[in-house]
Amino acid sequence: ARLVVLVSGSGSNLQALLDATADPGYGARVVAVGADRDGIAGLDRAAAAGVPSFVERVKDHPTRADWDKALTDRVAEHRPDLVISAGFLKLVGPEFLAAFGDRYLNTHNTLLPAFPGIHGPRDALAYGVKLTGATLFFVDAGMDTGPIVAQVAVPVRDDDDEDTLTERIKSAERRQLVEQVGRLVREGWTITGRKVTIP
Ligand code: GRF
Repeated sequence: ARLVVLVSGSGSNLQALLDATADPGYGARVVAVGADRDGIAGLDRAAAAGVPSFVERVKDHPTRADWDKALTDRVAEHRPDLVISAGFLKLVGPEFLAAFGDRYLNTHNTLLPAFPGIHGPRDALAYGVKLTGATLFFVDAGMDTGPIVAQVAVPVRDDDDEDTLTERIKSAERRQLVEQVGRLVREGWTITGRKVTIP
């Protein structure tokens, strides 16, 4: 199966996928990495793995819709079976969802629907929850909504700060991502009543 991974930052989830896909038995490979900004470690990880990458910046396009179209075209060039947002900090638009909405996964660092948005672990800590985790889901038009594929629970410790909690979540999140992508690739999935299988 062909994976395209979208990143905006450190790319540790991308790295976990690159490592897993080095084993041909995994059944998938990362055929391209896309980003919405230059100069991020995620792009260096793609280069180190010999995977092609591209950057589409919103500010290089006259409108958000033009950016959405450009991103859609860039991703489509690589004919992905699955597109994975792994720390990609942009909401895609209608054109992207029309093209990939049945195969666009995102991983989020809380147990959704609690604490959507970019400060999930900070918000979970501030609320005082004792259990949080990571959620893998198919993206829809909302922010961190969409059908959930899997969740993993992570305890909050009394002495946690944002960094320690974020890192504990990320280790569980990376394992879940690798396991679940492997499973989806093998088994296919059903979304809005339709079964999607990878040829
Ligand atoms: C992940 O924890 C993801 O849930 C959040 O940002 C983090 C990305 O980390 N949205 P990395 O870039 O994969 O290291």
